[in-house]
Amino acid sequence: MDITEKKNSAIENSKIDKLEKLLEVKNLKTFFYTEEGIVKAVDGVSFDIYLDEVLGLVGETGCGKSVTALSILQLVRETGKIIEGSIKFNDINLLELSEQEMREYRGNQITMIFQDPLNSLNPVMSIGKQVSEVFLLHQKEKLKKTQDNLRLERKKLIDERMNLKKELIKKEKDGLISEEEKKIFKLKIDDLKDKIQRTPLLKHLALDEAEKIIKEVGIADARGILKRFPHELSGGMRQRIMISMGLSCNPLLLIADEPTTALDVTIQAQILDLMQKLKKKFKTSILLITHDLGIIAETCNRIAVMYSGNIVEYATADDLFKNPRHPYTKGLIAAIPSIETKNKKLKTIRGMVPNLIFPPSGCRFHPRCDERLEICDKIKPSWIEISDKYHIACHLYDPKYKDSSKYKWANEEDIESFKV
Ligand SMILES: Nc1ncnc2c1ncn2[C@@H]1O[C@H](COP(=O)(O)OP(=O)(O)OP(=O)(O)O)[C@@H](O)[C@H]1O
Ligand code: SF4
Ligand SMILES: [Mg+2]
Repeated sequence: MDITEKKNSAIENSKIDKLEKLLEVKNLKTFFYTEEGIVKAVDGVSFDIYLDEVLGLVGETGCGKSVTALSILQLVRETGKIIEGSIKFNDINLLELSEQEMREYRGNQITMIFQDPLNSLNPVMSIGKQVSEVFLLHQKEKLKKTQDNLRLERKKLIDERMNLKKELIKKEKDGLISEEEKKIFKLKIDDLKDKIQRTPLLKHLALDEAEKIIKEVGIADARGILKRFPHELSGGMRQRIMISMGLSCNPLLLIADEPTTALDVTIQAQILDLMQKLKKKFKTSILLITHDLGIIAETCNRIAVMYSGNIVEYATADDLFKNPRHPYTKGLIAAIPSIETKNKKLKTIRGMVPNLIFPPSGCRFHPRCDERLEICDKIKPSWIEISDKYHIACHLYDPKYKDSSKYKWANEEDIESFKV
């Protein structure tokens, strides 16, 4: 890294220092107790999210990204259990809350866009009903206040009309009114009659809010969409609806689990752009989960790279993209298709993601790592801070193992499966 890059990165990091910590996940372990054995889906994960930042959580399929997200909201499915760690949100350990208390946070302060928008929306409920239900559930007090205000306004109009009527009758009785004035009075009374509407029910106010938030996510015919059902919308529209539901309560933290995976690239770009705009507008911090490093390159402030239930590299997006260190991150970056690699064979990472019931010994990446050392299958790498706010779990960066000899792969041709 040259001097300018180092300086920029230091500026970026100092910005993070000044930010307030919103979420602090420490040594989180979530296991599934299945018949085949214990799936160590999340095995000692730690990271922070600051106010008004986007943290990208990246990794191949099955590495524990969704389980990490579900653990934050304590929505891990049966046989899954959070067995260790703490998840502090605004300094409150969510793991110590009762289910009742946790409900106050879910959907209100922390919301989640789930991985599959079609399965996450109720197929037999109209979009309007589903989105407005979020308001009825989490913003009832606010809606009641609006309703009270409307009721008061209505009463004022009724009183005003009544007074005008009384005044007219009196003037007519006293013979103090001309035909012209009478006409003006009647016009005013009729005008007020038109203005006096029934006070809307809470469900109608919630529908109005639903319409507003759907407009906010860039769907033009928001009113029309309210009556439609999920299967009548395109994938991009469904994803926008999910985002609108996620943002409807103006949460402090939005967890977006693969929000663009099922979409084509142009819609993908639109959705990411939309999330950025909404983040600016609502000042929501975002945990963006994806298996695609390319997607988060422009969106995230910092990135946590996850492999096989662990975070292996954690740094600002600038640092990580300029100079990726962990062999796994290097592999992920090398696998991003680009115009320069056109007509060349795309780099891949050898082998497969390991089975989390029997994860590899030592460093879990060792069966796939081109830079493997002799000790890598024997000792688990420690979590080290190699520079300010740059963390990595790899023996290559641990001074203790600087003289460790390189592992010799049997098949020399396979040694370099990727190169950055
Ligand atoms: N209900 C469950 N029962 C048993 N194992 C589970 C369950 N849910 C998840 N797992 C396992 O936990 C591991 C992590 O799963 P997770 O869904 O977090 O992966 P992911 O990183 O989100 O992958 P993807 O990119 O495919 O969404 C996987 O090995 C998965 O098989
Ligand atoms: S610890 Fe060893 S096997 Fe793991 S990533 Fe580093 S070099 Fe590769
Ligand atoms: Mg997932």
